[in-house]
Amino acid sequence: MRRFLVAGNWKMHGSKELTAELISGVSRHVLDNARISEQKVLAYDILVCPATPYLQQASTLAEALPIQVGAQNVNANAQGAYTGEVSLSMLSELGCGHVLLGHSERREVFGETDTSIAEKFASCVNGEFDITPVLCIGETLAARQAGETENVVAAQLDAVLDVVGIEGFKDAVIAYEPVWAIGTGETASPEQAQQVHAFIRAKLSGLDAEIADKLRILYGGSVKPGNAEELFAQIDIDGGLIGGASLDVSSFAGICEAAQKLATQA
Ligand code: 13P
Repeated sequence: MRRFLVAGNWKMHGSKELTAELISGVSRHVLDNARISEQKVLAYDILVCPATPYLQQASTLAEALPIQVGAQNVNANAQGAYTGEVSLSMLSELGCGHVLLGHSERREVFGETDTSIAEKFASCVNGEFDITPVLCIGETLAARQAGETENVVAAQLDAVLDVVGIEGFKDAVIAYEPVWAIGTGETASPEQAQQVHAFIRAKLSGLDAEIADKLRILYGGSVKPGNAEELFAQIDIDGGLIGGASLDVSSFAGICEAAQKLATQA
């Protein structure tokens, strides 16, 4: 049984004040909820990905809490003359255990390519730092309308598989985020999302069934407390990557509680 992962991508939002408010507020909410439901521990994982300047603060605050901290991007090189970039060793020192890779905003706004994303993924899985890559993939509206969703997602996966092989996915996470559902309020229906998640798992399963079976595939794109449960209830959806709703304590906690509910029901 895969454990749900509820991850918040704060994008370029936040402040010291909001970091403190979100980490303490979310942990208080979810722990209270777990106690009420007589489940003393959380039956799922929580990850928050603040902007780089708040990573140290977030990991210090989260140290004794059931919240993990991740980054939103990394440079594939170990070190060097790469002004403005951050390395895996730096993220490791900042307390990060995960890093988002290839978010559609990185692809669209900052010109990241399948090739550069695969290099970053490889540096995570081949490197000495224990940082789990969260590979973001997903199609645009035009691609979906053209019936190209599976081809797009397969090509995004192949670019990484070509470099690291299926073994590289052993300790990775995938986030399926249809671009048309990001920040638009338009969520993929549970059936639409499940269809793509099943496609991703089947594709990887063809290479290694055990790795594919253990791999967590998150859904991202306008997840809210009101739709989280029906999305996470899908067989191949193992949690969510949450943008806007991760910046509000009760919304993010509400999404987390959907994971707790599903994970603890018989
Ligand atoms: P929204 O939840 O705001 O649609 O953002 C999704 C996302 O991009 C998470 O990485």
